[in-house]
Amino acid sequence: MTWLITGGAGYIGAHVARAMGAADERVVVLDDLSAGVPGRLPESIPLVRGSALDGDLLKRVLAEHAVTGVVHLAARKQVGESVAQPTRYYQENVGGLATLLDAVAEAGIERFLFSSSAAVYGNPDVDLITEDTPCAPMSPYGETKLTGEWLVRAAGRAHGIATVCLRYFNVAGAAGPELADTGIFNIVPMVFDRLTRGEAPRIFGDDYPTPDGTCVRDYIHVADLADAHLAAVRRLAGGATGDLTVNIGRGEGVSVRDLVSLIAEVTGDTTPAVVEPRRPGDAPRAVASAALAERELGWRARRGVREMVESAWRGWQLHHPEAIHG
Ligand SMILES: NC(=O)c1ccc[n+]([C@@H]2O[C@H](COP(=O)([O-])OP(=O)(O)OC[C@H]3O[C@@H](n4cnc5c(N)ncnc54)[C@H](O)[C@@H]3O)[C@@H](O)[C@H]2O)c1
Repeated sequence: MTWLITGGAGYIGAHVARAMGAADERVVVLDDLSAGVPGRLPESIPLVRGSALDGDLLKRVLAEHAVTGVVHLAARKQVGESVAQPTRYYQENVGGLATLLDAVAEAGIERFLFSSSAAVYGNPDVDLITEDTPCAPMSPYGETKLTGEWLVRAAGRAHGIATVCLRYFNVAGAAGPELADTGIFNIVPMVFDRLTRGEAPRIFGDDYPTPDGTCVRDYIHVADLADAHLAAVRRLAGGATGDLTVNIGRGEGVSVRDLVSLIAEVTGDTTPAVVEPRRPGDAPRAVASAALAERELGWRARRGVREMVESAWRGWQLHHPEAIHG
């Protein structure tokens, strides 16, 4: 088999490409490098620079590399940006997916994995979110992921493509410093950024109905997430049919305050956090049930939150030599 990984030069995509390459899967990456970094990929993995919105290019790449399965990670992923530019998010995340699925169907490819997100759930009032928890996304970004899932399943049924949608929870950490997330959109890099600039970390709201009043999230190490992709492509390659939609999380909640304390321990910077007003749209608690992933993929997370923070900090220091205690 040969797998096309779209967005494979991105933070998560590069981890997935490397994990699949290390497991002797043949892979080729397509990335427009709008956020990707070619140096994250080893030379053994071919990188085609181009957009998943370019149908002709897709058809050429699928044919030239004799692709037999696709892992689609390429997307825009910033919630705030999606609120400001909803049409762009629908065009790129949904339109791009439709273009790709057309090319996949035309090429007779029968295996497809889609990068979805816990953002599809919105703000459910449950202790553990299962895959049956109703979806009610709270941003255009989350909507594009939910619409994307519907499109993937519909195209799968129409064209006989076996599909898997992985709903990632909060991704953090790095398998090596050079693979770290260079964006400052998630909580761990956001706190590192504040500390590096000599500013106090911010906690948005401490009056939620949670044990310490701050929001509770489920953090997943990106290397565990890459292993989940490997398990999913093996399932697809093994002849699975139909569709599977599954949460990828640890099944354990960590409060923002506890995470910020852990970051202080790891970085050695104990600047106290400041509490600011709640941000609109933040769910008090979003923790995955990880049971289905274990049952269907034989996968579960092995790395803890400290390992995520420590590895992310090593990556942050590599990219920000000015970082304190660097
Ligand atoms: N990081 C998270 O916490 C998280 C959580 C849930 C879901 N996801 C999803 O995981 C996927 C990867 O996210 P990431 O954190 O690695 O982001 P990222 O921005 O690092 O990676 C996305 C990659 O896709 C590329 N890309 C974007 N648009 C493209 C296009 N039209 N054609 C070709 N390449 C394109 C970018 O250059 C980049 O390399 C996305 O689909 C995202 O929505 C991420």
